[in-house]
Amino acid sequence: MHALTMTRRSLLALTVAFGAFALAGCGGGGGNSSNASSNDRTAGENANANDAGSDQLVVGFSQIGAESAWRTAETKSIRGEAEERGIDCRMADGANDQANQIRSLRTFISQGVDAIILAPVVKTGWDPVLREIKEAGIPVVLVDRGIETSDPSLYATLVAADFVEEGRQAAHWLVKTTGGNATIVELQGTTGSDPAIDRSRGFREVIAQHPDMRIIRAQDGDFRRENGKRILETILKAEQPGTITAVYAHNDDMALGAIRAIEEAGLKPGVDVHVVSIDGIRDAIESVANGKLGCSIECSPLLGPLAFDAVEKLVKGEAVEPRTVVPYQVFEREKAAAELPERQY
Ligand code: AHR
Repeated sequence: MHALTMTRRSLLALTVAFGAFALAGCGGGGGNSSNASSNDRTAGENANANDAGSDQLVVGFSQIGAESAWRTAETKSIRGEAEERGIDCRMADGANDQANQIRSLRTFISQGVDAIILAPVVKTGWDPVLREIKEAGIPVVLVDRGIETSDPSLYATLVAADFVEEGRQAAHWLVKTTGGNATIVELQGTTGSDPAIDRSRGFREVIAQHPDMRIIRAQDGDFRRENGKRILETILKAEQPGTITAVYAHNDDMALGAIRAIEEAGLKPGVDVHVVSIDGIRDAIESVANGKLGCSIECSPLLGPLAFDAVEKLVKGEAVEPRTVVPYQVFEREKAAAELPERQY
């Protein structure tokens, strides 16, 4: 048993949560609570798995959901890394709902996990539950998205990309490609989420410097491919033909949906409408290589190694950096074609 958590565990040994929220082992089970495998556990069944005195590290992972290919890749990375390190990682899929995530965090407290990895769906509203976690002496590693808090000591570290810079990079590409003249639709990520806020901010900061670049529509597509398609279909029908010349999507899935809508409207993506997005998922890299998606700014979801490096340090009582910035890459056609055979996600 890890020294740091011994007292907490013995204190929590009698606490059993009988919440109905399903938790799936990170090393097995499905991407969400409805399709999880027989490795699934309920909170009641699994409270204090280390009570038997095992040395195995137990980590609760509160995942947002499975809204995009990016997120599926992130889940896989975290599960895979836990398995490799012999960590008992319990994943709770929040189905894109903060209330579900908060419930699962409380379940992790009652189970006396050694650490918690949290991918927060939205930016605000975490302080009360994070305070409870802190009082229980459990370190928190935030992955992929940041939060707004009145007390930064409520979490140990954040491992995530610089979303503002990603937005800026997307805008620079669009300015370069359109010669600084475009009528843009912005497909936004989940309202209130860190990437939706910051990707919009970075993009708009650059676009504002170009008077002939105009964002005429901005809509929340919740990072989902089907929403990207539906929103663009509606906009293309509503606007005069030829009005929309560019689409900026906060993630690749929405961009790929938009490309489908553009083609179904009889237009050519990359010619009639330029599309730029963020993530760098395999389907997007392929689309860039084929000249449909103009550019994808990579935001790596392979966060498992960095997240568990931090977890392992924290449970040993070692210091961690408060922030690790995951670097981006810009994929245009030539680079995408070269990357395709190697693409991991
Ligand atoms: O937080 C990262 C974002 O969330 C990804 O860009 C998007 O695809 C995902 O759903």
